[in-house]
Amino acid sequence: MMEGRGRFITLEGGEATGKSTLARAIDAHLRGAGRQTTLTREPGGTPLAEALRAIVLSPPGEQPSALSQSLIFSAARCDHIEKVIRPALATGRWVLCDRFVDSTEAYQSSAAHEPISSETLGLLNELLPPERPDLTLILDLPLEEARRRIERRKGASDVFEDRDDAYHERVRQAFLRIAEREPERCVVLDAALPPNELADAAIRIIGDRLDRPSGD
Ligand code: TMP
Repeated sequence: MMEGRGRFITLEGGEATGKSTLARAIDAHLRGAGRQTTLTREPGGTPLAEALRAIVLSPPGEQPSALSQSLIFSAARCDHIEKVIRPALATGRWVLCDRFVDSTEAYQSSAAHEPISSETLGLLNELLPPERPDLTLILDLPLEEARRRIERRKGASDVFEDRDDAYHERVRQAFLRIAEREPERCVVLDAALPPNELADAAIRIIGDRLDRPSGD
């Protein structure tokens, strides 16, 4: 990691794993420690990407294919990297992003009914600007607990949350495979922990992996 460059942390996991709550807790901790931070999410983070979020989460007409979805997520991601992530990192900010490329792998390339191939996913990722996370926290939650949480917050349901258990299990397993494949970047956290304990665990990992003076 270059001296002066910020750090790029992504949070990944299935539905109702508590990513956004954890992202806010980490953000508050980093700010408290004197870091400048950018807290953002995908799809989203820029006006264009937020507009694409609204389209892809509630598409007009027939449900788009996994490839069409991947192209929309990638277009939103491209704009987000160019306009938010890259400039933030360049000025030394720590970027905390709720979902990133691993979500496209888990949802469109693994869980989807007709998933895109890993070659197609690779091509899409190659087209994107090169910024990639220094650390990815993967929030893992048993399906029954995720389902309970989704039921409790009824009304927040969108096309992605209306899937069956097998779909959510494929998402979960895909994230675990990513973590196994890239242990130097990814850490799996137990999302069933109480929020404060989950935040403590995440903050410890960030300290160990990114915050040491020798880490530069
Ligand atoms: P969120 O509210 O957890 O951010 O959910 C956004 C939804 O979009 C979630 O169901 C996962 C889905 N998604 C994908 O399918 N592919 C992607 O690349 C991203 C970023 C999100």
